[in-house]
Amino acid sequence: MFRILLSAFLLTSITYMSYVEACPRCGNVEVPYPLSTRDGCGDSRYKIYCNNGVLEFMSAEGFYYRILSIDSFASRLVLSPPLIQSHSCSSSDLGVGGVRLDGGSPFNISTRNTIMLFNCSANILLSPLNCSSNSFCRKFEALDVESGCKDTLCCHYLKDSSMNSHKIRVRFGGCTAYTSVIDVRPNDPAEAWNYGIELQWAAPHL
Ligand SMILES: *[C@@H]1O[C@H](CO)[C@@H](O)[C@H](O)[C@H]1NC(C)=O
Ligand SMILES: *[C@@H]1O[C@H](CO)[C@@H](O)[C@H](O)[C@H]1NC(C)=O
Ligand SMILES: *[C@@H]1O[C@H](CO)[C@@H](O)[C@H](O)[C@H]1NC(C)=O
Repeated sequence: MFRILLSAFLLTSITYMSYVEACPRCGNVEVPYPLSTRDGCGDSRYKIYCNNGVLEFMSAEGFYYRILSIDSFASRLVLSPPLIQSHSCSSSDLGVGGVRLDGGSPFNISTRNTIMLFNCSANILLSPLNCSSNSFCRKFEALDVESGCKDTLCCHYLKDSSMNSHKIRVRFGGCTAYTSVIDVRPNDPAEAWNYGIELQWAAPHL
């Protein structure tokens, strides 16, 4: 009886161990559990990609965003905001409508993101956006003189719990470019902003 229990115990420990195995490094970046770059490591629901030594996240539309950092203790990772094409005012993911996460995804867009939208059309101003002359987006415009978003109608909003936590939308006839800054404080100079789209993930059920 004892032997059966012992071997059952060993078997479950071995299964458990292989289940929680973290994926190998990508380039020189650690890939903490539950993130998974391939079959057989991590948890497949937390799929990310290792492309030529660069970690990337794929949106529901199939657009890839570079992962800038991962904080496994806080269950957060930071994506690089898409480039804004120079001399126009469009984000590189405008064609797919911005970033959208799958409804069933364990990831969501954290409430620490302040989203800035550019080249907006006047009919979107009803929503809870700050499009005033002292909106954060004006500081961005003042810095990023190349972007082609200068002097367009722009707005910002905090991605708080009243906002959709699975997408940041851009489109023709709405706003055509965006960026995101994590944990903005009103008195921070724009030069010190921490650009990124911060995602958080729900803990895996073991
Ligand atoms: C818009 O945002 C700026 C910067 O945070 C703030 O000073 C201002 O009071 C806000 N305006 C409105 C109408 O919420
Ligand atoms: C701003 O958006 C409109 C469509 O909503 C587009 O036609 C125009 O080219 C955009 N402006 C810039 C500078 O990209
Ligand atoms: C986003 O995910 C975190 C972690 O699972 C969760 O605590 C939070 O409530 C989620 N936020 C929203 C707005 O769904």
